[in-house]
Formats: sequence, structure tokens, C-alpha cells
Amino acid sequence: MAKEGVQDIIAIDGPSGTGKSTTAKMVAGELGYTYLDTGAMYRAVAYLVESGELRVESVHNSSLNLSFDNNNHILINGVNRESEIRDPKISAVVSKYSAVPAIREALTAQQRKFASEHPCVLDGRDIGTVVFPNAKHKFFLTANYKTRAARRLLELQNAGKAEGQTEESVEKNLRARDRADSTREIAPLAKAQDAIEIDTSHLTIQEQVQKVLQSVGEAARCNNSLNATHKG
Ligand code: DC
Repeated sequence: MAKEGVQDIIAIDGPSGTGKSTTAKMVAGELGYTYLDTGAMYRAVAYLVESGELRVESVHNSSLNLSFDNNNHILINGVNRESEIRDPKISAVVSKYSAVPAIREALTAQQRKFASEHPCVLDGRDIGTVVFPNAKHKFFLTANYKTRAARRLLELQNAGKAEGQTEESVEKNLRARDRADSTREIAPLAKAQDAIEIDTSHLTIQEQVQKVLQSVGEAARCNNSLNATHKG
């Protein structure tokens, strides 16, 4: 059960390596919300097209069978493909697919449906700007490139996918993806005007989770006291 007094949707946007997913997962856990990793959905489409299982021309809401298991691992047609979608080969091409209008339309529709069924924390690039422009809580996470590259490399090492990767090569991929993601015509990576920006370069995961929870809690308290004033 979700705790009372908070709105149903929390949008956490920003580039990769800023701690978005870990923060979103922990915030969701604390509040009893469901976590939706929208980047994994774009990676899944990239994986399907690259492996020849799907043609870009045929991408449609109903042609994509994506779901998540209890560990937040993505299931494509019911099969766990978490490892495949995190491969650097997919990271290198995913921006190309996430700029395709039909792919964005299909995944945006799925994200809206999913969040209409569960109180949800979503992380991505366009959640606060396009998918849920009316979300009550919006955050935009940033960090400097050195920090982001070091975090991504550690993630790859932990997943056994760091072969041939260095901080420099990871940073190069991050810069290329940022460029592609923030200059594409549709739903570019951007901070919503009403999003709270958090620079995570010098924060621990616990600190950034606390910042998000504090802000969500303050908004809820403020709402409650406004309601009480109104009633009184
Ligand atoms: O968060 P990530 O690195 O797993 O995301 C993979 C790619 O998907 C990223 O390069 C941009 C794209 N993406 C997007 O365009 N919109 C989203 N809501 C989430 C991710």
C-alpha cells in the first residue's frame, strides 16, 4: 500500500550516470510505489531491432510485449533480457532508436498506461516534460562527466560487461548520448521548468534519496495543511 498524502506520480529525469535509477528504485521502495525504468524500455526496443526480432517500421504499442519482474528486470515477450539490454553494444545504438517518433509514441503510451494502474516513480529523459507534464513531483538529476563516467564504469564492472571499457570510452559514450538525446526533435532530454534540480556529483545515493523524499514529504505536508486551513 502506498503511504497517504503523496501524489501518484514522481518523475525523475536526467542523463545517465546521475544515479537516477537507483534513486528512483529506493524512493519507490520507501513510499510503497512501483518503479518504472523507462530507459530499459528504449533499450529493449533497440535490442529487438538489433537482434532482428522487430522491424522499426512495425513498432506499435501492441507489437511490444514488455514487463518487469520483481527485481525490476525487464522481460521481453516474457523472457528476462536485463543483461542483453545493458550491453555496451546496445548503449552505443539506443539513442538512434529513441529518436524515432513511432517508438516514442508506443513507449509513451505504455508508460502512461502502466502509471495509471500503479502509484509510480518513473525515471527517464522526458517524464516531467512529455509523458507526465502534470506530475506533482518532478526532479532533474545532473552530475559532472567525471563522476558519471566513473559510476557507469563501476556498474559495467559489477555486471561483468566492462571488457575493453575505460573511463574515457564510457565518458565518450555518455557525451555522444547526451548530445543525441538533448538535440533530437521529439521529447529531447530537458529539465521541466517546474522540476527540482539536484546535482548529485558530491552526494551519496542515500543523500539524494533523502532530498527527493524530503521534497515529496514537504509538498504533501503543505497540501495537508492547506486542506486543513480550507476546512477550518
Ligand atoms: O537511462 P538509460 O541510459 O537506460 O536510457 C537509455 C536510452 O534511452 C538513453 O540514451 C535515452 C533513451 N531514453 C529516452 O529517450 N527517453 C526516456 N524516457 C528514457 C530513456
